[in-house]
Amino acid sequence: MHKRLLLKAGALALTLAGLLAPAQAEDTLKIGLVLPMTGPFASTGKQIDAAVKLYLAQNGNTVAGRKVEVILKDDGGVADATRRLSQELVVNDKVVALAGYGLTPLAFATAPIATQSKTPMVVMAAATSSVTERSPYIVRTSFTLPQVTIGVAEWANKNKLKKFVTLVSDYGPGIDAEKTFKERVQLNGGQVVAELRVPVANPDFAPFLQRVRDAQPEALFVFVPSGVGSAFMKQFAERGFDKAGIRLIATGDLVDDDILNGMGDVALGVISSHHYSAAHPSAMNKKFVEAFGKANGGMRPNFFAVSGYDGMRVIMDGLKASKGAGGDALLAAMKGQVFESPRGQVLIDAQTRDIVQDVYVRKVERVGGQLWNVEFDVQKAVKDPGKTAK
Ligand code: PHB
Repeated sequence: MHKRLLLKAGALALTLAGLLAPAQAEDTLKIGLVLPMTGPFASTGKQIDAAVKLYLAQNGNTVAGRKVEVILKDDGGVADATRRLSQELVVNDKVVALAGYGLTPLAFATAPIATQSKTPMVVMAAATSSVTERSPYIVRTSFTLPQVTIGVAEWANKNKLKKFVTLVSDYGPGIDAEKTFKERVQLNGGQVVAELRVPVANPDFAPFLQRVRDAQPEALFVFVPSGVGSAFMKQFAERGFDKAGIRLIATGDLVDDDILNGMGDVALGVISSHHYSAAHPSAMNKKFVEAFGKANGGMRPNFFAVSGYDGMRVIMDGLKASKGAGGDALLAAMKGQVFESPRGQVLIDAQTRDIVQDVYVRKVERVGGQLWNVEFDVQKAVKDPGKTAK
């Protein structure tokens, strides 16, 4: 008798649990995070994923009384996979926001899904200027190539450099960087004597470096996406370019904090401009770098980590303001956000949905036995100039 009662009570409890479970699942706010966790751009995925986790660990994963669940998907850096996974996250998981997007073609492939489903899509990496124009639901927390290229072009002018060669990866962000750099140095009376475009995947820089040598510029301007810098620097050093009297200048993508320390002395003295250096001397950044390292076996955050960290903040603060609603309410609550990031003060421009931020000019130096991009000049509150330049 007693046993039967217990069994009955147990069955009732199970039924109740079954009834409650779907309600709880519905209560959860889901965010889809689509990143290259494997393949040649896996470092971007690892950095952003780690930063998103850090933000939630530090700030809690509830908002508007509801639990937030981040669903991570690995697209391997392949656009078809990015599109399919994003579609599944919207249709099956009913995410309130999409986030991630490690490369421009991956963001381009997903933009129509954001538009059709009215799902805010927070781009934490892809940095071609036009990305935000592909959907009114895209908000960007990374940067644009035109935004970070002008700083180093101006530095070159101040330092009386006039004859340049540009070498960029042959796709969206590289073309943006090449165009912006050329326009700015020409405006300053300089000249680009050769414009070299290298394949994005597994580039062999040797034939291009030979052409640089033939052109004999005073400085070589380089854009390669995060993760590719080590291969470039290796070939640059092997061919003795560091001793050939040609200054190496770049956007910060080349001297990415993720791989900078492994580059060795060849990187010393490289001048770049960018929106984030792990050496940024603010109190907030020092805390960020320390906490990021502690949580990730000593890993140094790079400029994509800071985009992931800030992107998660933009989503969480947006959800707080929209009381957990997605769609247009969440989008509206993301626009116009102003806050201090580990990189400095930032704004999500309500008109363009792009980030406005300081851009620093930096030099690679050895400090305390490690290589760092040491900031020595700044342009304040830079808007993406790519949108007006077109
Ligand atoms: C891009 O594909 O938009 C991209 C990727 C890596 C970078 C910059 C831009 O470092």
